[in-house]
Amino acid sequence: MKAAPVAALAPAAALGGCAGVQSALDPAGPQAAAIDRIGWIMMGGGAAIFVLVLALTAWAILAPEARRGWLGKPEIVTWGGIAFPAVTLAALLLYGLALAADIVRAPGAQPLRIEVIGERWWWRVHYLADDGGAAVVSANEIRVPVGRPVEFILKSPNVIHSFWAPALGGKLDMIPGRENRVVLEADRPGIFRGQCAEFCGEQHALMAFAIVALELEDFDRWLTAEREPAASPESAEALRGREVFAAFGCGACHAVAGTDAAGIVGPDLTHVGSRLTLGAGTLSNNPRNMIRWIAESQAVKPDNLMPAYAMLGADDRAALAAYMESLR
Ligand code: CUA
Repeated sequence: MKAAPVAALAPAAALGGCAGVQSALDPAGPQAAAIDRIGWIMMGGGAAIFVLVLALTAWAILAPEARRGWLGKPEIVTWGGIAFPAVTLAALLLYGLALAADIVRAPGAQPLRIEVIGERWWWRVHYLADDGGAAVVSANEIRVPVGRPVEFILKSPNVIHSFWAPALGGKLDMIPGRENRVVLEADRPGIFRGQCAEFCGEQHALMAFAIVALELEDFDRWLTAEREPAASPESAEALRGREVFAAFGCGACHAVAGTDAAGIVGPDLTHVGSRLTLGAGTLSNNPRNMIRWIAESQAVKPDNLMPAYAMLGADDRAALAAYMESLR
């Protein structure tokens, strides 16, 4: 492509980044809207000051000396170079600090609390059981109710990750030995993409997640279903897949509630069939990609902790994938 057509595409590409599932410029909740607002205030203020400085500079250079007025005096440095930036930056700092305090403040009575733990390279998700029900374990996908603030408790057992779903707010680092908290709220249903925002190793770029905002009753229904143990597979192929799962020791790393599989190294698979993606946002979740992930996980996402099960025959792979997809 020549330079001109590429340049012509640039504005379209830039605007394309303003909408969509992972854009801070398309806020889907009050925290994200507040961050969006301060972003535009800084952008607008910065642009106005930039234009003002350019105009004054042009005036100082081009105007006849007699007409430069106070621009030629040393006071311009005191007022324009010290007083003005000090006042503007102090005001911005106070506004920003107040906003930050607002965003991390815990919501009122009985908040929904979700613990998210940065793993290598995926997200362990615990819905904490404040409502008296059992805690729910999931991975790489976080469902939240619309219109209810959710307190996220962010942790890491290994290196620093950063939890960021731009359309909802954030971002906040997950630091080993610390517990960071952020409150996010979705004001409309939808799927919002999040991404690890701190380099955490070679597959950092493939460490994504989805926040799925559901209407309150849909969320309650989903959470109740999510507490149930895994459904027993119905098809003969999926039943055989369950045997393959046991025979190849998958349960040493993965848990499937209601079965002997209770591993905690990798993601909980009790309801893996209902998730949108595999490998933390790496592949969309369908039987073909499930087979690919099982057999070639080290090619798809090198150095992740799951070995590639290339030794499985085609029938075993398909059966195992059928079992996984049946876990809804
Ligand atoms: Cu986790 Cu970058």
